[in-house]
Parts: sequence; structure tokens; C-alpha cells
Amino acid sequence: MLIRKEDFPQVALSDMNNIHSTEIDILNSLYEAILNYMEGKVDIETVDRLFDDFLNDVKEHFSFEQNLMEKYGFFAYPMHRGEHDRVLYELNSIEKLWKEKRNPETLKDYLENQFAPWIINHVQTMDTVTAMFLSNFVHTE
Ligand SMILES: [Fe+2]
Ligand SMILES: [Fe+2]
Repeated sequence: MLIRKEDFPQVALSDMNNIHSTEIDILNSLYEAILNYMEGKVDIETVDRLFDDFLNDVKEHFSFEQNLMEKYGFFAYPMHRGEHDRVLYELNSIEKLWKEKRNPETLKDYLENQFAPWIINHVQTMDTVTAMFLSNFVHTE
């Protein structure tokens, strides 16, 4: 397991927490698949499929937040959006590298040392402030 749900920060909007929770599940599945692939237990297509699921999920996650920030005029929208764009760009490069080199170590290393610490920090900071702001307008559950 790459990220334990118990350790993952919660924000003031349940829709965002649900999206984060799904993302952690997909990320953990991808991470397990990479480890299993390195041990020869699953084929490369399994990693490809989960990597694809993960990328699509990240895109949906970011779009969901961006739409709400735009709709309700969140003051730090450009900054939050910039951070999302930066990570999408980074993921794009990692995907290219994976398709070219097929090196599971690189993918594993990126998830462990870049993406996992980033998402925890991002949710603790930008998402937390954003959710606090949005909770004045959006009511869920
Ligand atoms: Fe988020
Ligand atoms: Fe975010």
C-alpha cells in the first residue's frame, strides 16, 4: 500500500473527500500492480490498464475542483489550477517515459517520492483552503 486512507487528510467538502478516497484506491492498486509486475506476477498490460485508470481519475479529480472554483469565484483559483496543470504535465512526461522505456522502477519511484507526498501536501494545503471556501456555497449529503 502506498498511502493509508487513515493517514489521508480530510477537507470540509464531502464530495472532494469521496473523490480523494477513490483516487487513493486507484493509486494503491496501480502501486500494487507495479510491485507484482516487478516480481513477475502480473503482465505489463495490467500495469498499463491501471496507469490509464489512474491518469483518467486524476484528470476528473482536478476538473471537478476547477469547475467549482470557477463557478463560485474562488480567490486563489489561478494558483490552485496552476498546481494541477503542473502535475498533469509531470504525469504526461512520466507516461511517455513509461511507454518508451517500460521501466517499473521509474514509475514506482515517481509514485513513492513525487506523487504520494505531493497529493498529501496538496490536499492539506490548497484543497483544504478551497474546500473551506466552497463549503459556504456547496452543500452535500
Ligand atoms: Fe483534490
Ligand atoms: Fe486540488
